[in-house]
Amino acid sequence: MENLIHELRDGRLRPGEGLTFGTHRVNPVEHIPFDVKTLTRDFQVGRKASGEPYRFHIKTYGCQMNEHDTETMAGLLTAMGMQSTVEDAEADLILFNTCAVRENAEDKVFGEVGRLRPLKARNPELMLGLCGCMAQEQSVIQYVREKFPWVDLVFGTHNLHRLPALVMQARQSQETVLEVWDGPQHTVEGLPRLRRDEVSAWVNVQYGCNKFCTYCIVPHTRGAERSRFPKDILAEISELVNQGVREVTLLGQNVNDYGADLGEVNFAQLLRQVNALPGVERIRFTTSNPWNFTDELIAAIAQSNHVAEHIHLPVQSGNNQILKRMNRTYSREFYLALVDKIRQSVPDVSLTTDIIVGFPGETEEQFLDTLSLVEEVQFDNAFTFIYSPRENTPAAAWKDDVSESEKRLRLQRLNELQYAISLEKNQALQDRVVEVLVEGRSKTNSEVLAGRTRTNKLALFPGSEELIGKLVPVHIEQPQTWILKGRIVQQEVARR
Ligand code: SAH
Ligand code: SF4
Ligand code: F3S
Repeated sequence: MENLIHELRDGRLRPGEGLTFGTHRVNPVEHIPFDVKTLTRDFQVGRKASGEPYRFHIKTYGCQMNEHDTETMAGLLTAMGMQSTVEDAEADLILFNTCAVRENAEDKVFGEVGRLRPLKARNPELMLGLCGCMAQEQSVIQYVREKFPWVDLVFGTHNLHRLPALVMQARQSQETVLEVWDGPQHTVEGLPRLRRDEVSAWVNVQYGCNKFCTYCIVPHTRGAERSRFPKDILAEISELVNQGVREVTLLGQNVNDYGADLGEVNFAQLLRQVNALPGVERIRFTTSNPWNFTDELIAAIAQSNHVAEHIHLPVQSGNNQILKRMNRTYSREFYLALVDKIRQSVPDVSLTTDIIVGFPGETEEQFLDTLSLVEEVQFDNAFTFIYSPRENTPAAAWKDDVSESEKRLRLQRLNELQYAISLEKNQALQDRVVEVLVEGRSKTNSEVLAGRTRTNKLALFPGSEELIGKLVPVHIEQPQTWILKGRIVQQEVARR
């Protein structure tokens, strides 16, 4: 196992590593433009014998980072002449863009890969591929080789831009084509993308994570932190605005660290620069780690009128010993003081969080500290998880004497508390008029539109299609735990 760790980490920065010049760490990764010309010249798939186009379906698991990678892969495949489908039976290429953060996410993928095998008999041209975070795990590669030798293609998070070449190779090959890089070799700019939404768009600002929380596999699957240059980020956002996008969400595992490897601007400065771009209506970002959420960042959020009043601030636990063993590098008191500071500067801010229960050795008293923190902070929403041991992470080797049933019970107790708080928070919006950015139709009722408040709450209200992409004032009539139901009114909404 020890060897595996070294093999997996080879070529990456570990926490605190990296060459230090002046105040910033130098990113050893080169930024290169994507070669679109070669893609459109040499990697065209043509049409099937029937004259039909080749079709692809990408199944996405995990976080927004993965959702956005799927948009990039869809862009690459479309540029190769393929068309997207959501029907497995119609597809000639099915890609599993996987998540490794918890075991149940992995189990789901393996189940699906097995279930889809019979489709290969029906369509001899069908290729199955596995990519994303699971592909960065040695044990997964081994498992796929042994149990699913009929998988055609495996590639990881660092060589996504190689998809066209790998698809071409897999079409010719009788064996699984496997290309997984240990770490990033470059940051590739200018990749084509097929975005899922015309109103709201994701924009990468930073890749990877250097934090090495002791439970987390992400630094292993995504490599060391690398920031994109501000000029590339700003150019991408300007282009999106020209195409009609109204809202951008800046993506990184630890956005507060943005720019530390470049020494140009920090995250607070980047936010101000994005805010100053003409045409950007709303700016969101995720995720920020509490430990380096600086006063400068709070001020930038408070003073930038397009930055939405929602901060996702994962706390993970309310107990100091557990936080220490998680390597979260902040204490309960630090977190609570940070929440106070944010609320003072950004009135009406909505706060959401991530929490893990059943960390190895977590006692009932330690869990009660998490409940009391949740009670004290009054989050708008929380994503709650049972701890899942992950290969090559320190916590996976630690003694764990808490039973599965006890962990499930803790999750239930935590959720019950949070659901009541979420409902109460939403009920406080009864009869308020809030600004909603209309994103599309409701999934369950075509007469109803769906959109989000600045505080990232889902609002549903009757309305017609021309309003998609517009900001509308909505009077909240029926607030519920997860949604706000209301009606559009002819009234100005107070803006900050
Ligand atoms: N970079 C983000 C988190 C990304 S992972 C941050 O630090 O804020 C998303 C969430 O998954 C984490 O916040 C954590 O709550 C959860 N998670 C990560 N590893 C886990 C594990 N091994 N078991 C259970 N939950 C985990
Ligand atoms: Fe994982 Fe987030 Fe910690 Fe990074 S900061 S190791 S992504 S939980
Ligand atoms: Fe999962 Fe990878 Fe995101 S492990 S949470 S898809 S970074």
